[in-house]
Amino acid sequence: MTPPPGEIPSEVAAAWARRRPPPGDPVDPARGSPTPPSPGNPVGAQHGSPTPPSPGNPVGAQRGSPTPATPATPHPTPTALALGDPAPHLPRALAQTGYAVTRWHRHLTRGQLCAPWPPSGPFGEVWVRMPRSALEAAMLLHAAAARVADGARIYLYGATNEGIRSAARHFPEGTEPPVTLHIKRRCRVLAATRHAPPPRPDGLDSWELRAPLDWGSGPRDWTFYPGVFACGRLDSATALLIDCLPALPAGARLLDFGAGTGIIAAAALERGAPGAEAVLLERDAIALVAASRNLPGATLVLGRGVATVPGPFDLIVSNPPIHAGSAQSLATVEKLVHEAATVLAPGGRLLIVAQRRLPIPRILERTYPLMNTIADRDSFRVWEAGRRTR
Ligand SMILES: C[S@@+](CC[C@H](N)C(=O)[O-])C[C@H]1O[C@@H](n2cnc3c(N)ncnc32)[C@H](O)[C@@H]1O
Repeated sequence: MTPPPGEIPSEVAAAWARRRPPPGDPVDPARGSPTPPSPGNPVGAQHGSPTPPSPGNPVGAQRGSPTPATPATPHPTPTALALGDPAPHLPRALAQTGYAVTRWHRHLTRGQLCAPWPPSGPFGEVWVRMPRSALEAAMLLHAAAARVADGARIYLYGATNEGIRSAARHFPEGTEPPVTLHIKRRCRVLAATRHAPPPRPDGLDSWELRAPLDWGSGPRDWTFYPGVFACGRLDSATALLIDCLPALPAGARLLDFGAGTGIIAAAALERGAPGAEAVLLERDAIALVAASRNLPGATLVLGRGVATVPGPFDLIVSNPPIHAGSAQSLATVEKLVHEAATVLAPGGRLLIVAQRRLPIPRILERTYPLMNTIADRDSFRVWEAGRRTR
């Protein structure tokens, strides 16, 4: 069985980071250029110069040769940027080896910087956790390459079922062909050295994708970015929920939980009377940038829980996440259902779409006296719940 993402690849990368030879060491397997970079010397020491100090080799000793009698020279703390991995193993291992580690994640995750784009650096090296989509991998590796100097390295790690075996093609122009440094339990660590700046300008704008989207009222030009839910298309479950949306009266307040690029909220506003208000709650900072382009007038909240958003709401809608990593998990739905009751206006309704095989009715019945199935198509259902019917 393939190991669960979120744990094993980070552990594999961390194990490798911990035991890799000091940068500059002659047996360094990642050495692909004559002047290997090191965390203490991110642009790469000139060939022929003494081995620079490094976290694994703090005094700069040469293997097999007497320790040089030269006095230790102070050097800046080596820096590393970890992109896109919610697990702590790799940053912890790098920190234990002497690095100052910065973490970035597009999804709001406890203890991590969450923003639409990574901090600019520069960093001595960048570690990238293999993301779900090929385009997102290309985007993250591009961002990584913009954050290291020529001669420094970018590492990519992940599992076979995440596509790591064919991931070498995602490294941008300006990096040398990546080498595989470590393979363990269907996981790999790849590394490539940058030799020139990557081709696209640095920033999320370079990755904007536009596609026509039609949920029944004619095509609309829609903005996506790599890695957002249903990138470039209308998801079938989303479409079913849109078909069930009531017309919002003027002044009504709608909350779209897990709003993604804002499709459900946009359809609800389009169908309702002028003057209805939409609040979009989403934990993916990049999806919220897309939503800001798609619904310029909406209120956007980067968050993970309904209870943090001031109510009351007349309608709460959601095509909720039912996975944590690759494993199915109903924890977020259960929390949503429970917390929605605290922000629903009297007579307000909660609409949820999900696969019909999931025990959503059982979850809804625990909190709401009224619960109905209001649509059933293909493998999806929409359930409506509330304190009383209208
Ligand atoms: C199935 S997608 C639906 C996206 C969008 N509503 C649509 O239908 O196209 C679920 C969305 O929930 C977001 N999400 C996951 N967990 C969340 C949480 N705890 N709080 C807020 N958003 C969350 C995901 O980032 C994702 O965009």
